[in-house]
Amino acid sequence: MANNLLAGKKGIIFGALNNQSIAWKTAEACYANGAQIVLTNAPIALRMGEINGLAEQCGNAPVIAADVTNNEDLQNLLQKSMEHFGGKIDFILHSVGMSVNIRKGNHYTGLNHEFQHKTLDISALSLHRLCQTAYNMDAMNDWGSIVALTYIAAQRVFPDYNEMADAKALLESITRSFGYHFGKKNKVRINSISQSPTRTTAGSGVKGFDGFMSFAEKMSPLGNASAEDCANYCVTMFSDLTRMVTMQNLFHDGGFSFTGVTAEVIEQMEK
Ligand SMILES: NC(=O)c1ccc[n+]([C@@H]2O[C@H](COP(=O)([O-])OP(=O)(O)OC[C@H]3O[C@@H](n4cnc5c(N)ncnc54)[C@H](O)[C@@H]3O)[C@@H](O)[C@H]2O)c1
Repeated sequence: MANNLLAGKKGIIFGALNNQSIAWKTAEACYANGAQIVLTNAPIALRMGEINGLAEQCGNAPVIAADVTNNEDLQNLLQKSMEHFGGKIDFILHSVGMSVNIRKGNHYTGLNHEFQHKTLDISALSLHRLCQTAYNMDAMNDWGSIVALTYIAAQRVFPDYNEMADAKALLESITRSFGYHFGKKNKVRINSISQSPTRTTAGSGVKGFDGFMSFAEKMSPLGNASAEDCANYCVTMFSDLTRMVTMQNLFHDGGFSFTGVTAEVIEQMEK
């Protein structure tokens, strides 16, 4: 869907691992809407090389490695991006998440707390680190927009989402807290988008993902939102059409978050 909503805008997209990634679809949608972009991911993810195809597709976008837990990497990323753009940045997508305990198969009641620190650092504190780096470097244009991706397990219990629920709750809190300060400084807005379950590398890592995805589909009057739908929503959040929206957690889930029960779920229970 290309409406040129981002004509003249310049942005950084974190987290395009492969063509299933929400960040991948968002990079494509931003480029199709007239934006210039820089792509970034952790050095280890870049070694897989898939991102180079996306970069080519997006007007030979530069690909700059950055581990979100490393201050120097983030400074370097923002500096190089501004040099490439010849000016400040208009939008950033934070599409980063990783749970070490989920990878290791640890139950929530048996978390390894060293791993938990790492999870929180990558999946939540990285948003603060990124915003703080951009704030101190004065890297964002006035009315710029930062979006982070989150999940409803921050508000309600989804037992298999495990420690990522706590990471997302912290991420959403940082969205609000930093959104205040960045808004005051130069009208930069920060929001989180709470997305439907989506079949990606990170999503499929959650135990019982397939069953859960069909449950969410039945519980959402519009059905699950796809990665492409999410990408389009990100485009609107980066555009000037949403310039007074900040510090919000925005549900993008086909109505799941406000649905108590549906006819499909009752029918299933009566079988
Ligand atoms: N897939 C879902 O069901 C779903 C639902 C709601 C929200 N989200 C969120 O969307 C975001 C994107 O995930 P996705 O589903 O597209 O999966 P994905 O696996 O494609 O993306 C996750 C990205 O995080 C990157 N990453 C991990 N550690 C990093 C580090 N130290 N430094 C820099 N990057 C790092 C990975 O390389 C990867 O590109 C995540 O925040 C995820 O929690 C996903």
